[in-house]
Amino acid sequence: MCGIIGYTGNGNAVPKMTEGLSVLEYRGYDSVGIAAQTDGGISVVKCKGRIQTLKEKEELAALSSTCAIGHTRWATHGGPSDINAHPHRAGSVVLVHNGIIENYKELKEQMQQKGVYFLSETDTEVAAAVLNDCYLESGDPVAAIRKAMLQLKGSYAFGVLFDDHKGEIYAVRQGSPLILAKGQDGSYLASDITALLPFTREYYPLEEGEIAHLTKSFAKLCSVGGEEITPAWTTTSMSPEAAQKGGYPHFMLKEIHEQSEAIVKSVSSRINAEGLPDFSADGIDADFWKQVKNIQIVACGSAMHAGIVGSRFLEEYAKIPTNVYIASEYRYHPPLAVDGTLVIIISQSGETADSLAALRYAKSAGLPTLGIVNAVETTIAREADRRIYTYAGPEIAVATTKGYCTQVSVLYMLSVAIAYATGRMDAVTAKEIAHSIKEDAPRAVAHMLETYKDTFVRIAKKLAPKEDMFYIGRGTAYALSLEAALKIKEISYIHTEAYAAGELKHGTISLVEEGTPVIAISTEAELYDKTESNVREVASRGADVTLICRDDTGEKEFSANEVILLPTNSEAATVFAALVTIQILAYETARIKGCDIDRPRNLAKSVTVE
Ligand code: F6R
Repeated sequence: MCGIIGYTGNGNAVPKMTEGLSVLEYRGYDSVGIAAQTDGGISVVKCKGRIQTLKEKEELAALSSTCAIGHTRWATHGGPSDINAHPHRAGSVVLVHNGIIENYKELKEQMQQKGVYFLSETDTEVAAAVLNDCYLESGDPVAAIRKAMLQLKGSYAFGVLFDDHKGEIYAVRQGSPLILAKGQDGSYLASDITALLPFTREYYPLEEGEIAHLTKSFAKLCSVGGEEITPAWTTTSMSPEAAQKGGYPHFMLKEIHEQSEAIVKSVSSRINAEGLPDFSADGIDADFWKQVKNIQIVACGSAMHAGIVGSRFLEEYAKIPTNVYIASEYRYHPPLAVDGTLVIIISQSGETADSLAALRYAKSAGLPTLGIVNAVETTIAREADRRIYTYAGPEIAVATTKGYCTQVSVLYMLSVAIAYATGRMDAVTAKEIAHSIKEDAPRAVAHMLETYKDTFVRIAKKLAPKEDMFYIGRGTAYALSLEAALKIKEISYIHTEAYAAGELKHGTISLVEEGTPVIAISTEAELYDKTESNVREVASRGADVTLICRDDTGEKEFSANEVILLPTNSEAATVFAALVTIQILAYETARIKGCDIDRPRNLAKSVTVE
């Protein structure tokens, strides 16, 4: 999604803008722009395309400024173009915007009646016009922002420059994230802390409705009601290297390799001194779990897929009925809640608009909520009644890997913790499973990446020229197939369907023809024979089958052309070995096809619009 950066201080603002925006590239964007205060007024340089295109512009090279705002845009209102790119100017106001102004049509008409002429198709230019209109009345930036907020409906984070306020940046958030930061050489603004890691680590996440006024030496804050607020600065533990590739050709590959370590981080603090699963360090004690009779997991995309894997563990071990809902649907067809319903919202970014809306809906319905979130201090983490961080570290590639992986590891540990706390699992078993998640799963991930390097490339070469393919599986393997298909689709653009292996013959098998790739996953021993029958069904119709199955399957005669064996020293080892296999297969296929792996077309990292 869109990215914002801003700086005012003693340094040169323009290179800081391009450097910060480059870090934000991972969020996905299609146009970029900078507005900088100069001796001759505010100059705006913007264009469709990449930051490199902007950097090559002569107007940018000529800019010298100590106060600027910058933006990467992911088109919503109006396609990607030079004109629609941010910043937008209206009168004395120049602004950048993340989010969506829902009532922009009505506001546009009102502004047009006042004689405003619009250049772009964007809702952002309308917001700029409304703000300028308010500014004309008072001549006071904060009063103007406060008044404009009463008119703007939707979600937004703004960075604003006013012609006659040199060296000052104004900012406000309502629904979309925005942080302030202070460095040795000035004050900063960004939609995401990673953009500021090259400059500073001391930051403050704006609360809903807060208005900030940045000058080079301080940040002044006030609430929408006008009360002054003292920002509580915190220091991020992220290092600048966390947002760099560290020798890997792509962030996605780096993040796939970081998973062994990420699993350990995600579960270590949830195993107590006795080796038992325990979430008391997260402020959730055993008694809380005893009240939970029913769980609703709500999330989007891969996070929702992690929820489906987790629901299997929750039902199998904790014996709690668990349903998984697509966040964007949750509010429109609210599921029935019984006494003891817990709503779990899963989100890597902690800012996904649909997941946040679902969280707010659940809270308004009086249901207790738990956020499983990666990015700390984000809106979902802050608004959920309870939160569990996944500690995967910053995830830069648009397609999630370690985010998803740690969501699964945390849900796995959670199900064992609940099972033990409620007396549904004995201590010996709980310890054993907790230990296997922390020890066996990371080893299995590393083992697969090492052992099957060439096999993955060989299979990916066969997949790359194809237009359609299938993933099939039963049980947990079916849940993993859903994520496997999404990974292939989003980064290699091959149409892939995930099917419950037994369901294929009820219609869709008619699509299988000579050479159709089918990848079958089998992680549960008791489901192997049935999955193998399904493999035979497709193989006999010409499918080119790859089988990902347990290494204890025995001396069976495989009807697949390729076989990848998963370690079976524990359930955790098998599940996480399969999980990394589907990710690396997608990665290698996209690499062979020459796709833009870290920034797949049309996609954005943190989807902050509904
Ligand atoms: C796919 C992917 C998305 C996200 C989804 C939810 O690789 O990354 O499907 O999982 O947009 O995002 P979060 O977890 O940030 O709420």
